[in-house]
Amino acid sequence: MPPRKKTDSKKKTPLKEKPKKKMIVKTASKKETSKKAKTVQPKKESKKDSKKAVKLPQLLRGMRDLLPKDEPIWKKMYHVAEEISDAYNYGRIQTPVLEEATLFVKSIGKGTDVVEKEMYVFENKEGSKIALRPEMTASCVRAFMSHGMHVQPQPVKLWYLGPMYRHDRPQAGRYRQFFQYGGEVLGEKNAVIDAELVCMAYNFVRDMGINAQVKINSIGSLEDRAQYIIELVGYLRSKRSYLSEESKKRITKNPLRILDSKDEGDRMVIEDAPQIIDWLSEDSKSYFMSVLEYLDEAEIPYVLEPTLVRGLDYYTDTVFEIFMENSEVSGGNLALGGGGRYDGLVELLGGPKTPGCGFSIGLDRVANIVSAMQQEVGETFLDTKKVFFAHLGDQARRRMLKIIEDLRREGIKVYHNLAKPSLKSQMEIAAKYAVGYTFILGHKEVQDGTIIIRDMDSGTQEIIDQKKIGKAMQRILEKKA
Ligand code: HAM
Repeated sequence: MPPRKKTDSKKKTPLKEKPKKKMIVKTASKKETSKKAKTVQPKKESKKDSKKAVKLPQLLRGMRDLLPKDEPIWKKMYHVAEEISDAYNYGRIQTPVLEEATLFVKSIGKGTDVVEKEMYVFENKEGSKIALRPEMTASCVRAFMSHGMHVQPQPVKLWYLGPMYRHDRPQAGRYRQFFQYGGEVLGEKNAVIDAELVCMAYNFVRDMGINAQVKINSIGSLEDRAQYIIELVGYLRSKRSYLSEESKKRITKNPLRILDSKDEGDRMVIEDAPQIIDWLSEDSKSYFMSVLEYLDEAEIPYVLEPTLVRGLDYYTDTVFEIFMENSEVSGGNLALGGGGRYDGLVELLGGPKTPGCGFSIGLDRVANIVSAMQQEVGETFLDTKKVFFAHLGDQARRRMLKIIEDLRREGIKVYHNLAKPSLKSQMEIAAKYAVGYTFILGHKEVQDGTIIIRDMDSGTQEIIDQKKIGKAMQRILEKKA
């Protein structure tokens, strides 16, 4: 490995990219919208009706509802995920949320937190152990084998978006049901594939308006790692008394995880620990160098992180995580995504020798950050395919009713509130729907047979003939978002 990369291990490349311009519109600022939503409380019981009192159903701990107000950000995430996956030629896969528990135990590893502490496992009526999926990589590999994808042209490129389940300790950014967007490439080992997956993960976060930072490392082949673990365990044993109780337990069970510990005492010990990069074979080193060269070529900024090992057992060679750069927003210090290569997993699960590599982004964490950033400046994403029809005055209301009915007959749905007389309150509703355009009909327009179209992003307006409303709507609906 050339010395530049080794000595630069904490340095970012200067090739930072600005996030793409996103569709935004001003809404009420944080202060204006900080009124707390009222939750329904059970009525106080009188003695008379105490027998009838019912407890209101409660949301399960660690779970959350996503409400219509959250929709613009989630819709944007679905859209960006689809666009990126299409652009890199990935096909969508949807697998059941339930799988045999052994699939995850074998793949993720017995001694890992996910399997040992966090997996939802139960027995079905036949007495088999079933798990709610804690991640999708193992499910993709299972599907790859179930559908004989190894005989298709390789590599097979899959993407997914859906809910995962981990019985984690609930806290900010950590939920028991959370959503991931991810990509997996099976059937070919080439450094350009690892780099492509890092690019996709980075681009997703950046397209959501977050300045992303990639942390990357190589944990080498299984043989490299076995050698390194002997060295690491020897070192950790010599410093045992300085380690936290949790890390002491991990020395024999899962020593690599100690490198990830956030405990201050552990961190001091880890600083002087042997680094895995020094135990890589020449092949693993040059593979890793190629991945980094491709990332340089694609101008993806990254930081070499020698202690990055990831919490799942299936990884080999490249491992990476995505963070928010210079995070000041709450939740900004948590990993937004992670991934890496897993060349032994298909074989481990009984399939043919097949390399694999992938990433997953935690959508709840991305949504939390985007929402916090938008509240700070009072912005929201616009849906360029949504249109609001606003009116001013009685005559305009009547004419508008006819226009909306005609559009409906043509199968075109628009937003409106004909009961509200004030244009200001209608525009507020339009902003709540986060529409891309508003068609406005006032007294003058009724007389002229025209209508105003306002672009809600730029604020520009154009006036068209009312006869051309249908065409204008078609143009908007067909336009690429
Ligand atoms: P992971 O690091 O376990 O990797 O999870 C990926 C991302 O999911 C995390 O970076 C985080 O953003 C999000 N996440 C994880 N747990 C929670 C939680 N309890 N609440 C909210 N978000 C969470 C994997 O899952 C691997 N399957 C990634 C991969 C794909 N490796 C290869 N291919």
